[in-house]
Amino acid sequence: MIRAWIVSTGSFVPERILTNDDLKSLVDTSDEWIMERTGIRERRIADKTEAASDLAYGAAKAALKSADLKARDLDLIIVATVSGDMLLPSTACILQDRLNAKKAAAFDVNAACSGFIYGLSVANAYIKSKLFKRVLVVGAEILSKFTDWEDRTTCVLFGDGAGAAILEATAEEKGILSAKIHSDGSMWDLLQTPGGGSRKPASRETIRRRLHFIKMKGNETFKVAVRTLENLVTETLDENNLKPSQLSLLIPHQANLRIIKATAERLKLPLERVMINIDRYGNTSAASVPIALDEAVKAGRVKEGDHILLEAFGGGVTWASALIKW
Ligand code: ACO
Repeated sequence: MIRAWIVSTGSFVPERILTNDDLKSLVDTSDEWIMERTGIRERRIADKTEAASDLAYGAAKAALKSADLKARDLDLIIVATVSGDMLLPSTACILQDRLNAKKAAAFDVNAACSGFIYGLSVANAYIKSKLFKRVLVVGAEILSKFTDWEDRTTCVLFGDGAGAAILEATAEEKGILSAKIHSDGSMWDLLQTPGGGSRKPASRETIRRRLHFIKMKGNETFKVAVRTLENLVTETLDENNLKPSQLSLLIPHQANLRIIKATAERLKLPLERVMINIDRYGNTSAASVPIALDEAVKAGRVKEGDHILLEAFGGGVTWASALIKW
């Protein structure tokens, strides 16, 4: 049987660090509130000239280097983002040009924080169906440019960054064992950037009403996320006849430390077997899972033969998991 396996990973984050204390000069908040409610201590913020494709390029180059591959070896580029360079064209096409990946097809996936795992599932399907042999999947976000820096309920949460993985076909007993994607559009209004699209095209009025910034019903989103992720992880393991004790590492989307802990508790997984970096990056949306995966690989926390589980929940609403034998 042909499977898709992850040959290499890479990540890239902007240099500038914004701490919780720095945020105190922008909105009425405190380090204690942010740490206690979210687990975030600091986040990376892109500079004025940087766009999502610049961070994607850094992550993609790192993944190519680590696999000793050239961009021309890629058959397909998928970029998961909700903060792309422009509405048109796709960030994936801009990345393809920058990489000079002449042979590759390129498109974006919009599934908010679940985007990278959605991208993995698409790559997995293409590889298993033998349409493509080698696929680059990137999660890249610059949410800081869509953040209302006067809204304390959202501006303390998000950060910028990118993570990438290169997938290849293999006949060996390794790689993606299952990739599950789900959505429930009836909750689309929990998380939205209402202005600038075809519903409310950019105008003086949309800008005056700050509609081009992310709005989130945080508390409702929190409750749905906890319930949904708890079910998702148990279902994914059950379907693959694996017990939580057989899981070497859980790599969750980094939206809130309380959500991560609730999922780990449901699986009775000690926190040593959960990848956590939310304290340093905040919620980087589609970039969070691949950055965490890359850091786990680099730190030697993922070894050959290990079972690892990626999971995420995000706007849409969407949720997704990928069970991988490394
Ligand atoms: N500093 C100080 N106080 C604050 C801040 C802040 N930054 N933000 C809100 N508060 C206040 C609120 O005004 C409220 O005050 P009140 O009780 O006087 O009204 C109080 O703190 C509690 O607010 P809640 O919103 O109920 O706080 P909660 O415990 O729910 O935490 C949070 C908020 C962190 C946003 C949480 O709800 C959360 O993490 N939600 C889920 C996020 C998520 O998973 N998103 C999905 C992925 S994101 C994507 O797809 C791009």
